[in-house]
Amino acid sequence: MNSLHAGCGNSSRTGSGQSRHSRIYRIGGGGERYWRVEGRADATFLGLGALIRMPDGDDVEVAYRLARSAWGRGIATEAAGALVNHALGALALPRVVAVTYPDNVASQRVLCKLGFEPRGLTEYKGVQATWHVLTREAWRART
Ligand SMILES: CC(C)(COP(=O)(O)OP(=O)(O)OC[C@H]1O[C@@H](n2cnc3c(N)ncnc32)[C@H](O)[C@@H]1OP(=O)(O)O)[C@@H](O)C(=O)NCCC(=O)NCCS
Repeated sequence: MNSLHAGCGNSSRTGSGQSRHSRIYRIGGGGERYWRVEGRADATFLGLGALIRMPDGDDVEVAYRLARSAWGRGIATEAAGALVNHALGALALPRVVAVTYPDNVASQRVLCKLGFEPRGLTEYKGVQATWHVLTREAWRART
């Protein structure tokens, strides 16, 4: 299924500080940027998260990439929710942004569930990408 933006439908707030399957750690040497996602029960590596400055401007991007074996269990939502909480809470950023390939419906759904607002398309590192924004005000209204 191809879509510019997955509909939020019955958007629920999941993963924000309520991790059940995973936990996320900052990786040494990367400053605030790179985070390891691992299983809560056994510390198995599940993927990476990141808070990265966008190529243009001051916005910080929330990014995540999971091992295939970790898909479909809500872990991306948990991990991205933890990054959002850190960026908008501890770091007190005014907003965070995210981009996805236009056909990456699962990732768009993750962002929807966390309260990101879809803002159409943008060019990101030379390719068309969907553009999503979550302001601190909107995030606080959900917590
Ligand atoms: C995209 C990715 C992050 C999703 O991880 P995940 O842990 O499976 O995501 P979650 O389980 O938290 O949430 C996925 C949501 O998308 C939905 N979904 C998955 N595939 C879908 C599809 N083809 N169409 C519609 N919805 C879909 C799931 O049902 C779920 O929504 P729900 O909770 O409302 O049921 C993971 O597949 C991944 O790392 N892919 C490779 C790298 C990547 O794409 N990174 C993101 C870059 S923008």
